[in-house]
Amino acid sequence: MHRKEFIKKSCNACLAISAGWMLTELAACAHTPIYKTEVRDHKIAVPLTMFANTDAQIISVKGLDYDLSVRKEKNGSYTALLMRCTHADNQLNSTGDGFVCTLHGSTFDKEGAVTQGPAEQSLKRYATTTNTTDIIITIDQL
Ligand code: FES
Repeated sequence: MHRKEFIKKSCNACLAISAGWMLTELAACAHTPIYKTEVRDHKIAVPLTMFANTDAQIISVKGLDYDLSVRKEKNGSYTALLMRCTHADNQLNSTGDGFVCTLHGSTFDKEGAVTQGPAEQSLKRYATTTNTTDIIITIDQL
């Protein structure tokens, strides 16, 4: 194989691998939708319609340093967890059925319980209620 042909084939292989990696990353980002909102009077309102086609939603709240994860339970209630690692306050990533911290490797299940340290405490959970249109999350403290 000549040098020029080798370089051309190598570049094509790199492009194919890069495209596959990018598609994988985009798919990983897309598995949990993100809803952006803000806190008003220590409360966050999330439209119930956001859960029409999903049981889990990431909430990005203006002014808060960490996202929230809101999950619809089988009994119709909602669980709201702060996506802040309890080991050293790193933002967590959703895995679809739990959370992972990329800083030191702690993992949490979808209920917020530690499944792998070094974190030792469960994730902070916020009280939720619903009205006819929204899930109301009460933010008492971070
Ligand atoms: S900050 Fe998350 S494991 Fe250390």
